Amino acid sequence: MESPFKADVLKGKVALVTGGGSGIGYEISLQLGKHGASVAIMGRRKHVVDSAVAALHSHAIPAIGFDGDVRKEEDAARVVESTFKHFGKLDILVNAAAGNFLVPAEDLSPNGFRTVVDIDTIGTFRMCREALKYLKKGGPGKDPSTGGLIINISAILHYGATWYQIHASAAKAAVDSITRSLALEWGTDHDIRVNGIAPGAIDDTAGVIKLAPEEILSQIKQKPLYKFGEKWDIAMAALYLASDAGKFVNGTIMVVDGGQWLSRPRF
Ligand code: HXC
Repeated sequence: MESPFKADVLKGKVALVTGGGSGIGYEISLQLGKHGASVAIMGRRKHVVDSAVAALHSHAIPAIGFDGDVRKEEDAARVVESTFKHFGKLDILVNAAAGNFLVPAEDLSPNGFRTVVDIDTIGTFRMCREALKYLKKGGPGKDPSTGGLIINISAILHYGATWYQIHASAAKAAVDSITRSLALEWGTDHDIRVNGIAPGAIDDTAGVIKLAPEEILSQIKQKPLYKFGEKWDIAMAALYLASDAGKFVNGTIMVVDGGQWLSRPRF
């Protein structure tokens, strides 16, 4: 679908997208790039990152990829530093890296719980923390009149309760809380806007392919409103937040789910 945004709304901006090699993270990278940004992507699987970068290059987007795990302090620091070294600044951080699997709470080990919290929650905070010195107003290479932007991808799992995702629901609830806390502190102190996007069921993503049981998918398919979203829908929300259209938006969690969460607990 054609973008309603002008192709230069992010001209001159530099974005770093964790989980940018696939799924929602890749689509956000692509759309930020198509609207003028230079893009660095970070992911655990080198071959996935490499092919995503090649795909971005095929759209003439200045892009670079780094393999790294947001659970590792040294990876987070290295990727943020390398992005700065390559592009000379950092304006936008998108935290899209996530881990998840379906498991009944009684079968989930504390380590399994911790693994998802480490990726989704601590990983998000770690990346924000590493990026702070570059994103803050007056940061190296930046336009001195304005600070940068963080977008944290969460979910709608925790608005009610979601079967077999106690770990991811808790992790994403904490991500939303991080978004609000940083919006308050870093918005005030550093002119950094921090917002979240909470996607619903998005077609052709690991979240749906791996996690949604068939009986839920068939119910979603039958509803006129509660249909699947597209990765594009999430990327357009990111563009709104990243562009000047969102310049007064800070600390919000934008739900992009077609109204699906309103139907809970029916699903
Ligand atoms: C029960 C499991 C499990 C499973 C892992 N564990 N998979 N427990 N059921 N299916 C437990 C392990 O037993 C272990 O605990 C601990 O978790 C760590 O497992 P590892 O395999 O060592 O972890 P790792 O290799 O680092 O893999 C991380 C992962 C993996 C999260 C477990 O699934 C992953 O990285 N997936 C790819 C990313 C992904 O799925 N993204 C989708 C995000 S979708 P013990 O106690 O045995 O040591 C999303 C959208 C949400 O977030 C919204 C949906 C609508």
